[in-house]
Amino acid sequence: MTILGIETSCDETAAAVYSPERGLLSNVIASQDEHIPFGGVVPEMASRAHTERILPVVRRALETAGMGLDGIDAIAVTIGPGLVGSLLVGVSAAKGLGFARGLPLVDVHHVEAHIFANRIEHPDLEPPFVALVVSGGHTQLVWVADWGVYRQLGTTRDDAAGEAFDKVAKLLAIGYPGGPLIDRLARDADPTYVRLPRAFIKGDPLAFSFSGLKTAVLRQLERMSDEEIRAHVADIAASFQAAAVGALVATAMRAVRAMRARRLVLAGGVASNRALRAETRAACARRGVTVYQPSPILCTDNAAMVACAGAFWYARGRRAGLALNPSPRLPLPSVPAQSG
Ligand code: KG4
Ligand code: ZN
Repeated sequence: MTILGIETSCDETAAAVYSPERGLLSNVIASQDEHIPFGGVVPEMASRAHTERILPVVRRALETAGMGLDGIDAIAVTIGPGLVGSLLVGVSAAKGLGFARGLPLVDVHHVEAHIFANRIEHPDLEPPFVALVVSGGHTQLVWVADWGVYRQLGTTRDDAAGEAFDKVAKLLAIGYPGGPLIDRLARDADPTYVRLPRAFIKGDPLAFSFSGLKTAVLRQLERMSDEEIRAHVADIAASFQAAAVGALVATAMRAVRAMRARRLVLAGGVASNRALRAETRAACARRGVTVYQPSPILCTDNAAMVACAGAFWYARGRRAGLALNPSPRLPLPSVPAQSG
């Protein structure tokens, strides 16, 4: 079975070819630099850029995999959640190619695809496990009872983790997107330079909150002179990262304990963060829990994860018709809290 995956939910135009038998055959990602001067994704510009790039990106994915569309069994495409104009480009391209070549379509949930990214490098990974999904739009702890069977254990009360990285990078005026820049700056810096709160929600031990941390960084900056900020921007970034990562790891480990899980799985763009990877490895080693972390290129948005999730659902018989539309606010399909 060979699946072409298409991903355009935000600002990455991506296509990939994946086969459960042969593995990942190509993984093409065209990032959009045009948003950098605006310090965030401009939805109109994103959909225009997707429109220009989607067919060349698909062509390159097929070429790299050494095949044409005749080598493909089905097209998997992200239908949500995401920016509606961006999603529409990927869904339209998938429908057009599918109709032209008589190929079935498989609709894929973006967050579920992030979790499936782990299966590309670890085909032996089997549920049940706890997944920590941390990206620009999502921060969730998910109990994966089985592939396709999810229960949300906790989520953020305000900002997503990646959003917090991006907003703090903006406060520090170090550029966009903030996550990778803070990660790089923090590498050789002092994470104890400023004391920042690690928010825990009373009565909801598996919930996250990042807006207080962002405000605490802002208050710290207001108390500092321009010279001090300039001299210690890396230390402030490292202090923020330590607080954010500390809260993520502590909460994820509470979920692992609560579910008596033997495995913790990381997913989403923030899962490429070096400190988060190191701290989850250390915390899991202490508890004898196996931790799974996709390669960084499979953490941030990509179509390999979409093709991998699509392969699973294609094998289960899922098919989408040509009436398929994007669902910008699609929740992760969830089982009731008392089961699973
Ligand atoms: O999964 P993703 O590519 O897109 C969404 O589905 O949102 O995640 C993007 C987010 C951005 O907020 C970005 O700043 C963050 O992931 N990110 C990181 C790192 N790389 C990307 N955050 C912290 N450290 C990183 N190395
Ligand atoms: Zn994503």
